Amino acid sequence: MTNRESAIEIRGLKKSFGKFPVLDDIDLDIPRSAVTCIIGPSGSGKSTLLRCMAFLTDFEAGSILIEGQPLGFVGEGAARRACTNKEINAARERVGFVFQQFNLWPHLTVLENVAMPLRLVNKLSKSEAAGKARKALAKVGLADHVSKYPTFLSGGQQQRVGIARALAQDPHIILFDEPTSALDPELVGEVLQVMRDLAADGMTMVVVTHEMGFASQVADQVVFTDKGVIAAKGSPAEIFGNPDNPRVRSFLANYFERNTIRSRPAGRDVPAAAGQLGWGMPLVEGSGRA
Ligand SMILES: Nc1ncnc2c1ncn2[C@@H]1O[C@H](COP(=O)(O)OP(=O)(O)OP(=O)(O)O)[C@@H](O)[C@H]1O
Ligand SMILES: [Mg+2]
Repeated sequence: MTNRESAIEIRGLKKSFGKFPVLDDIDLDIPRSAVTCIIGPSGSGKSTLLRCMAFLTDFEAGSILIEGQPLGFVGEGAARRACTNKEINAARERVGFVFQQFNLWPHLTVLENVAMPLRLVNKLSKSEAAGKARKALAKVGLADHVSKYPTFLSGGQQQRVGIARALAQDPHIILFDEPTSALDPELVGEVLQVMRDLAADGMTMVVVTHEMGFASQVADQVVFTDKGVIAAKGSPAEIFGNPDNPRVRSFLANYFERNTIRSRPAGRDVPAAAGQLGWGMPLVEGSGRA
């Protein structure tokens, strides 16, 4: 049964590496035109879950529907069969992926980095691909940098090229795996701003992130993974405001501890912006999609 409100429907998803279960019976709906942020401890399965949504990795059990289109496998038990390449491509072409490491080709210009997949994968002509690439690069604020080589760009600009590369494929959904983790702190903001703009345009986004400020302000749904299961799920106010779940509480307490600026040697604590998200503090109202 297809839920038309959901861009992605995940049911009973199981994934192991060898004997080690990494995702254990995951059920999750990703709403359309909304931002879902996935947070949780290292090794809890966030990246694996995201990679399953783009079939960058396969899985042993369960199903994933991308806008109703099966990705990977259909059916259960004896009736389960692998999707045909045609079915997989029909699902995957709706999904863009932005990686933590930008993976740009150093010997190609910014324009070529975005245009090349359009030529190789989408079989567009050189001029069509260049036109689409320019449009995507303009969208992430890099119209003036198209002729540069990646090494002449900052990390933030390189990641914006990574986002443009995903955007140029006209995806309905973009998956981001810690898109700002490899960046110097002062470069994080420009990438998050591009992501906020995409969210405001109504792009369906799933973002694995350690940026709790971003998640609290932009997410419509926050998913907390722990040891391969979804341990908590809710609005930013529910997850960051006063979470019931003790694992969420301890995860966030640890996060705030690491992200609180303390004056030294004996001064008062100076709460960082992230610290103001703690329970007992004013809650985030709405989703930031004003
Ligand atoms: N290719 C792989 N082969 C074997 N084990 C893997 C592989 N990829 C991930 N794992 C294991 O699966 C578990 C979940 O990994 P995953 O990368 O999904 O976690 P994560 O929540 O994204 O962590 P992080 O916050 O550190 O990125 C970890 O124990 C990891 O060691
Ligand atoms: Mg990860």
